[in-house]
Amino acid sequence: MKVYDIIKKLAADGNLSDEEFKILLEAESMAIGDTLRSEADKVRRSIYGTDVYIRGLIEFTNYCRNNCYYCGIRRDNKNARRYRLTEEQIMQCCSEGYELGFRTFVLQGGEDGYYTDEIVCGIVSNIKLHYPDCAVTLSIGEKPKESYKAYFDAGADRYLLRHETASEEHYTCLHPKSMSLKNRKRCLFDLKEIGYQVGAGFMVGSPYQTTENIIEDLRFLRELKPDMIGIGPYISHKDTPFAQCKNGSLELTLRLLSVLRLMFPYALIPSTTALGTIHPQGREMGLKAGANVVMPNLSPVGVRKLYQLYENKICTGEEAAQCIGCLQNRVNSAGYGIVISKGDVKRR
Ligand code: 5AD
Ligand code: FES
Repeated sequence: MKVYDIIKKLAADGNLSDEEFKILLEAESMAIGDTLRSEADKVRRSIYGTDVYIRGLIEFTNYCRNNCYYCGIRRDNKNARRYRLTEEQIMQCCSEGYELGFRTFVLQGGEDGYYTDEIVCGIVSNIKLHYPDCAVTLSIGEKPKESYKAYFDAGADRYLLRHETASEEHYTCLHPKSMSLKNRKRCLFDLKEIGYQVGAGFMVGSPYQTTENIIEDLRFLRELKPDMIGIGPYISHKDTPFAQCKNGSLELTLRLLSVLRLMFPYALIPSTTALGTIHPQGREMGLKAGANVVMPNLSPVGVRKLYQLYENKICTGEEAAQCIGCLQNRVNSAGYGIVISKGDVKRR
């Protein structure tokens, strides 16, 4: 089958055979990317119009007990200066965010034992008490099911946990033995069962990733049926074992955003900061390729440089306080518009 027929088939069926995915993802012609993007944008507009949802990201701790080989805040990175936000600081971020029009707060952090279930539940319920019209999203890693249940009962609505790779073999290339794909998947299915809106995802171009691995990721996402799907290019960090590895590509990330939009027409898909980091217009291109969410940083400007999963992260300097205005312009310039609402996933 020719590549253009494959794109038509993906647009019509939302699925392809492994061989067809491989042809699509590996095709060299840039024109293919253009066709794919326009098909994805058609689907996106048919469901979400030009709406782009905003999520206020609060990076509240960069302590982490894990040691993932790709991540700049891994436990063994002695060069990382560690910080934690107090509950008051987090509430202050929400207050500023609310004034700016945010109705979803994403609490993201490393796996930091300092924040016990009791503390997390306290923060979540405090946010819900002050901002009952807002959604709270947690992104704090792998936990026992009981903990996930406790956060949910405290008011958490959504949970982001990228699966990172759906291949056992690739998973062991990216993570030390103490972590397993099995537990990662257990977490994601537990979260769904409890009733969270769940987000999964993976890095594009992470070390040792093959096209076959990416196809496994797409198959896993079909099985999980997440409400949100986060992908972004892998970007290397000098203080990790992968310091010498090359970054993921813009073109493949955009192509995958379009593939995801065609496979999951209703999904909430962010155009990520990592995409904006590898290209000055990366996030605009991501929106045009099918993404419909942006996640500006609401963390206090003083700590933004310290939450460095990868190098050269944007929005960490003096301009950072204006992220929302900047992003608004960027979203508009791409032909879309930010909407102020919780932006719950639309369902068939
Ligand atoms: N480059 C790009 N993305 C990264 N992440 C972690 N480290 C990197 C990196 N070096 C992503 C992971 C994680 C999310 C919070 O950030 O996918 O789930
Ligand atoms: Fe942060 Fe543009 S979005 S400065």
